Amino acid sequence: MAREFSTVGVVGLGTMGAGIVEVFARNGIDVVAVEISAPALERGRATLKGSTDRAVAKGKLAEADRDALHERVHFAVGLEALHSVDLVIEAVPEHLDLKQRIFAELDRVCRPETILATNTSSLSVTEISVATSRPNQVIGIHFFNPAPVMKLVEVVRTVVTAPEVVADVEALCARLGKVDVTINDRAGFIANALLFGYLNHAVGMFESHYATREDIDAAMKLGCGLPMGPLALMDLIGLDTAYEILDTMYRRGGRDRRHAPVPLLKQMVTAGLLGRKSGRGFYTYERPGSPVVVPDEATPLATDGALADGARAIAKVGVVGSGTMATGIIEVFAKAGYEVVSVTRGMEKSAKVCEAVKTSLNKGVVRGKLSEADRDAALGRISWSATLDHLADVDLVVEAVVEELSVKKALFASLDEICKPGVVLATTTSSLPVIDVAMATHRPADVVGLHFFNPAPVMPLVEVVRTIRTSPEATATARAVCAALGKTGVVCGDRSGFIVNALLFPYLNDAVKMLEASYSTADDIDHAMKLGCGYPMGPFELLDVVGLDVSLAIQRELYLELREPGFAPAPLLEHLVTAGYLGRKTRRGFRDHSHR
Ligand SMILES: NC(=O)c1ccc[n+]([C@@H]2O[C@H](COP(=O)([O-])OP(=O)(O)OC[C@H]3O[C@@H](n4cnc5c(N)ncnc54)[C@H](O)[C@@H]3O)[C@@H](O)[C@H]2O)c1
Repeated sequence: MAREFSTVGVVGLGTMGAGIVEVFARNGIDVVAVEISAPALERGRATLKGSTDRAVAKGKLAEADRDALHERVHFAVGLEALHSVDLVIEAVPEHLDLKQRIFAELDRVCRPETILATNTSSLSVTEISVATSRPNQVIGIHFFNPAPVMKLVEVVRTVVTAPEVVADVEALCARLGKVDVTINDRAGFIANALLFGYLNHAVGMFESHYATREDIDAAMKLGCGLPMGPLALMDLIGLDTAYEILDTMYRRGGRDRRHAPVPLLKQMVTAGLLGRKSGRGFYTYERPGSPVVVPDEATPLATDGALADGARAIAKVGVVGSGTMATGIIEVFAKAGYEVVSVTRGMEKSAKVCEAVKTSLNKGVVRGKLSEADRDAALGRISWSATLDHLADVDLVVEAVVEELSVKKALFASLDEICKPGVVLATTTSSLPVIDVAMATHRPADVVGLHFFNPAPVMPLVEVVRTIRTSPEATATARAVCAALGKTGVVCGDRSGFIVNALLFPYLNDAVKMLEASYSTADDIDHAMKLGCGYPMGPFELLDVVGLDVSLAIQRELYLELREPGFAPAPLLEHLVTAGYLGRKTRRGFRDHSHR
């Protein structure tokens, strides 16, 4: 028989604590909610009220249920109020000495059978537990932000946590409608261990002006389908909390430089820019605690479709190549009203590409997304050629040939001879340095990267890569073209992986290392990222879709360019590739897909 929890205590009613109170009270459990001072208590009460009022306004909670929920919560200043609760969850700031002090005090105040839990994200539950005389009744219950929404709870058992305490807490999670994963006490557990290296890397990109905050966030949302970008997420977590988590993970997690907090973070925390809770972090909010972003001095000006920053007018576009990307890109431009010249290496290839574009457009018609007249008009805008000479009068060339530097360089040298002056020359490369391609021409200022995502007609993101020689006009032109295609163009520097792959693949590689270390299972890791962070797919699902060979190649390039030891490809990934387990395409990767 699982233990009955009729009253729980929550200590600290900040970002997490207030949400945790709501979770319990919503599920019929009485809560004693404790803060350090009367003003802090009022803040916590207001947070709870704001959250439940929003739920009522959205029709997710009946008014009567909200009122009953509030009646279940008893607010108090000081830990003494917790003398008769069955379980306490501590959610005070991420400092070991503070948490140890509170646990020692809880040990004194609470009944001997009370379970003491911490919501720490990165500190050692074991170290916290030894501040009490009952370490076997101490456990980690790690909720995700926002606690009422996110389904995941990481249950952290130490080497001394009693098995029945683990079982009781697991049963409690089920009662709260949460999905739990039970794991050992390691810095960052599953989700944060995979998340924070990525978040810190994104802050580093912002700090070094590699891309703007809007572009970094848009890239990860639109390129990976994440619910929010990394900098917006940092603001939600709270920069002070994020700093402490990174700092602890750096010290506890083997001094991986990727967890050493980026200096900008410390500066922002010192300056009181803590994120949403203080009204300003990477973004500016309507008021402290509000999720509504308001414009500030860094917000880009809306151009309302006008050609900003010297962008050149583009009417006719050449697309070179005959593969998946070229085919998709031809379709995208033709549908958006551009005149398109497709150049392949032979009329047979042109015929194939033409067929593929027709098939794809027809699918659009069948699905009711495109009228027959628009399909015919789009096809009518495309001319098919097997010679580059036909690119003499285009305004923009998009190259999407094989991913080999020598081939691309030779092509750009030819384009340099054939194309009129002022043309923007774009490469779709996903891994080669754009500057290498640019220097094959005598007009590197006009060369950019236009990194479309596959399938190009569907994916809303394009990375616009500017090299150190690219002119502002060429960049502005590329960005304006993306907008005219109905896509979001994000501008970034010419570094391996651009924004999306540079942030995504090290995270996937870290997940493989975590599996390799037997810390958790592929299923639990996938669960943790989907239910704890709202990712559309877990890392192993995604690796099997992308292909393990492709992932390994990208990770190797990142490692070679940045020489970051933490980016070294996981040996398990290399072994699986060597064994021919490449993912869905070979019916086996991290999972066996042969029966699906
Ligand atoms: N922010 C997140 O996204 C997130 C997610 C999961 C877990 N966590 C963890 O939850 C814990 C709390 O983080 P947070 O972001 O909610 O912090 P926070 O700064 O938003 O809130 C902490 C609260 O604790 C109160 N407090 C401080 N000392 C206290 C004391 N002695 N007694 C009672 N209350 C006290 C503060 O007044 C404040 O309201 C940390 O361990 C953190 O790592 C945070």
